[in-house]
Amino acid sequence: MSGRLDIQKCRECGMVIEVLIDGGTGLRCCGRAMDRLPEKSFSAGRRRHIPMLETVGEGLRVTVGQPPHEMGHDHFVQWIEVIADGRSYRQFLRAGMLPRVTFELPMHTIEEAYVRLMCKQHGLWTSSTPLLLAGRLNTAG
Ligand SMILES: [Fe+2]
Repeated sequence: MSGRLDIQKCRECGMVIEVLIDGGTGLRCCGRAMDRLPEKSFSAGRRRHIPMLETVGEGLRVTVGQPPHEMGHDHFVQWIEVIADGRSYRQFLRAGMLPRVTFELPMHTIEEAYVRLMCKQHGLWTSSTPLLLAGRLNTAG
């Protein structure tokens, strides 16, 4: 069973996919069922995976970790995503880059936004509470 925006991984070949619409039959790759990657909560995790948010004009700057998450070849943040009011904004990163992305978002119209990110070594991380509420950073969560 899968749901919209679930991230799934094949244990054999390592392919990672995202579900857009659930067909209800389950996903298979390399002859076996794919695994849904668990979303780890930032609040339960290490500080190096916690996104630091700043508003920048009409945008949102997301930096992973404080100090910033390492970005070596074997261990780096592969992508950062903002999910805002049913829209998904994702930026892929490469080893050697800063784990920082500025998303151009219609900040003043956003009701709720969540952030999630993928670490090559430590998996999928997400916010269990909205990090943006009514266009402002939610510092209560
Ligand atoms: Fe990591």
